[in-house]
Amino acid sequence: MTVIALDGPAGSGKSTVAKHLSQQLKFEYIDSGAIYRSLTFYGLQYLGAGCQGKEEEIANWFSENPDQIKITYEDHTQIMWLKGSDISRQIRSPEVTREVRFVSDSPACREIVNQKMRDLAEKYDVVIDGRDIGTKVFPETRYKFYLDGKPEIRVARRAKEMNIPLQGEAFDQLLKGLLDRDASDMAREIAPLCQAEDAVLVDTSALTVDEVVETIRKHLGSS
Ligand code: DC
Repeated sequence: MTVIALDGPAGSGKSTVAKHLSQQLKFEYIDSGAIYRSLTFYGLQYLGAGCQGKEEEIANWFSENPDQIKITYEDHTQIMWLKGSDISRQIRSPEVTREVRFVSDSPACREIVNQKMRDLAEKYDVVIDGRDIGTKVFPETRYKFYLDGKPEIRVARRAKEMNIPLQGEAFDQLLKGLLDRDASDMAREIAPLCQAEDAVLVDTSALTVDEVVETIRKHLGSS
């Protein structure tokens, strides 16, 4: 099946663009970050506060209970299920956002997530957003895009989503969190965030969502 890989840092517009693109192309949209978040949510919910040091336990539980995590689609939107409950909202909590890096730094957890994505890509044509999709998970795909943008613009997008004013302490904290996450995603030993050599770079700073989608579709049409 066809895989379109959209990698890039937080706030680069990947998930919004991936949703629009998948709807237009009638592909499914795989939000790989949401799968990392779901493993993190499991750790926090069932293994006590904090995920640091619990990565192996988390990975073992998911490899022994692969059916307890499910991914379904409703109008090309990904729904995450854990033990039969829809956790799509809970995985966006600040606590999950803070702890997810322990899970995403773990080779065992990465293998669980990558296998889920490979299973889905055998069944569906997919647009996948993440950090290492074009470099590590589907290096063979012809369709790779790296979305990037100025940090202050990326953080302003996040602030708008979260109804946070574009100035003040909450905004500064959000900016710090975003820069920290960029740094930890890029410095990770395993599957760090980086642009694949054969990926098309799209700077989304000055572009609307429609313009980014249009740019990608032009490349798809010409490749
Ligand atoms: O895109 P997001 O914020 O939902 O991703 C959550 C975290 O998961 C993020 O800090 C980086 C990590 N991640 C990753 O390491 N590899 C991916 N393919 C996707 C996300």
